[in-house]
Amino acid sequence: PKCIWLSRHGESIYNLEQKIGGDSDLSERGFQYAKKLKGIVKENAGNVELSVWTSTLKRTRQTAQHLPYKKKLQWKALDELDAGVCDGMTYEEIEEIYPDDFKARDDDKYEYRYRGGESYRDVVIRLEPVIMELEGQENVLIITHQAVLRCIYAYFMNVPQEESPWMSIPLHTLIKLEPRAYGTKVTRIKANI
Ligand code: F6P
Repeated sequence: PKCIWLSRHGESIYNLEQKIGGDSDLSERGFQYAKKLKGIVKENAGNVELSVWTSTLKRTRQTAQHLPYKKKLQWKALDELDAGVCDGMTYEEIEEIYPDDFKARDDDKYEYRYRGGESYRDVVIRLEPVIMELEGQENVLIITHQAVLRCIYAYFMNVPQEESPWMSIPLHTLIKLEPRAYGTKVTRIKANI
């Protein structure tokens, strides 16, 4: 691919409440980011026609809603890491209710699988078809979630997948990846909101 554009969804209600998972709407700031994203992409990508890939969750679709591109695709494989029984909880609640799990995750964040949910390794595996499809595309903008973006980012940056849980992918930042023979060039564009 020529260019891969990556972004997390805008801030969600759950982000504000520090709850993980779920399918909440964007917050007011999140909607502001969605509005701004159109101009930020235009400014940096110019007139190229992008394909926009989101997850099936509301917060990524809401983030993509103002983008003026015809090709929009929803992938279940881009949904956030499934936190199983911990879905909808804060990290504090998880530590209190499932202290052993909380510690196990801290000890090995890549391998730890939430009860009834997924590990980072599981996410890497389910992302394979997405990566395959991406390899054959020209210009794609992917709007998805923190854990998923960490895995995609690590893949293109040639970082061992075990390190993906620690990649920094902040909110309200558009990441431009330019895969080259010698490595991937990265540009991070922060939205001022
Ligand atoms: O808090 C936002 C979020 O996307 C959660 O939905 C998800 O469980 C979490 O980030 C993943 O980050 P970490 O692996 O660091 O807990």
